Amino acid sequence: MARLEVQSLPGCEQIRLALINEDFPTGPLPAEVMRAVIAQPAYWAFCWGSGLGLARILLEDPEQVIGKHVLDLGSGSGVAGIAAAMSGAARVTACDIDADACLATRVNAEINDVAIEVVDDIDQVGRPVDVVLMADVLYDRSNMPLLDLAAGFDARVIVADSRISDLERSDFTPRRSLEALTYPNLGEFDEYRTVRLFEQTAQGAT
Ligand SMILES: C[S@@+](CC[C@H](N)C(=O)[O-])C[C@H]1O[C@@H](n2cnc3c(N)ncnc32)[C@H](O)[C@@H]1O
Repeated sequence: MARLEVQSLPGCEQIRLALINEDFPTGPLPAEVMRAVIAQPAYWAFCWGSGLGLARILLEDPEQVIGKHVLDLGSGSGVAGIAAAMSGAARVTACDIDADACLATRVNAEINDVAIEVVDDIDQVGRPVDVVLMADVLYDRSNMPLLDLAAGFDARVIVADSRISDLERSDFTPRRSLEALTYPNLGEFDEYRTVRLFEQTAQGAT
């Protein structure tokens, strides 16, 4: 009953992504399917609230990425990188450790007719990078060290996250918050509807 459909994003209709169908089954799954879902979650089959919120912001204010090399770290479907490319970024690299997410980002870039380099290892990202985008990547506390890797690019780092209200890092400043829901709707708790943006500006970055 679950399948992929190419869908326009709410409030960001110019972006179309291959995502799980809106009426995906929400009832109990057979045990072996449940085990498979837990073993390899298809994060890429949803556009997470933070990716959607960040995409809206970039499309509204393209100056943030025009002419820049943008890295979408933890790209999933590729939504943030696609928005950056549509907003005029000179180069976009997407990085995700999940091979299926890398494939989804490639497919979605093609659907939206934008060029995105896709890598599965942060060490393969070409430098220099001007802007690093991280949307809903900190869902797992063990991903927090990714902030140091992102900071290592000596770029402007923009973290959009609906799970974390305080990054507890003095080098990141809260910038703004907005409401955005994961699409298709996962029925998340109300507390996850608020996406917070944090920013670290590297010394020397403009
Ligand atoms: C919840 S999804 C968010 C995807 C997308 N940014 C969005 O907003 O829709 C988080 C993604 O981060 C990826 N990820 C987790 N740890 C990572 C790491 N160490 N390096 C790169 N990607 C990672 C996961 O595979 C997953 O695709």
